[in-house]
Amino acid sequence: MTTIIGLISQKGGVGKSTLARALAREAAAGGLRVKLADLDTQQGTSTNWHRRRLEAGVEPAFSVEAFKTAAQALRIAPDFDVLVLDGPARASAATLEIGRQASLVVQPTGASVDDLHPAVLTFHELVREGVPRAHLVFALCKIGTDAEEGEARAYIAQAGFDALAGFIPERPAYRQAQNLGLTITETRFPQLNRRADELLQNVVDRING
Ligand SMILES: Nc1ncnc2c1ncn2[C@@H]1O[C@H](COP(=O)(O)OP(=O)(O)O)[C@@H](O)[C@H]1O
Ligand SMILES: [Mg+2]
Repeated sequence: MTTIIGLISQKGGVGKSTLARALAREAAAGGLRVKLADLDTQQGTSTNWHRRRLEAGVEPAFSVEAFKTAAQALRIAPDFDVLVLDGPARASAATLEIGRQASLVVQPTGASVDDLHPAVLTFHELVREGVPRAHLVFALCKIGTDAEEGEARAYIAQAGFDALAGFIPERPAYRQAQNLGLTITETRFPQLNRRADELLQNVVDRING
């Protein structure tokens, strides 16, 4: 059976594509057949990133493809062990479609209430539409300090949702890596790679139950 992981958020710039690429990369490194589906056809950021990865000859290589809808991406799911859906911003229909189909829906969020408030509303909406709460998890991304992480975690718990253990700190090295077609687990800094790895491992643990 194909494992389907959806990255969603109504906000842009929170880390959907960043986590989607890294998850796909780790699955590929583990020898799994993986497809990263770029559903942001307007921007095609992961498709462009993939071109940079191919041009730089980064291993492991894996397949990235743009799809207009999640339903179209799901048609090719049986050919893969893992399908990672990199969702578009400002698209409730796509968000709901991903929510219904994914084994796990990961919503990256920053630590500000400006980020957290709409993020929680998005998950409430998915629950109202019948998506099991256990399928929904937050990932704290672009976090400044441990104190900030703590406050964000409390906000999420208060709203009745789960967040992955650990967080992705805001670091230029994560941006720079992606400029070169690399993932946040492939930066020049082992400690940053390890941090990203730990959060991603958490996703895998959750899926394997
Ligand atoms: N932890 C981080 N630290 C610094 N920059 C980051 C981090 N995570 C993501 N970015 C950068 O922020 C921008 C938006 O991230 P992206 O994953 O494309 O968001 P989304 O897909 O949700 O729009 C990108 O330029 C990316 O390189
Ligand atoms: Mg994106």
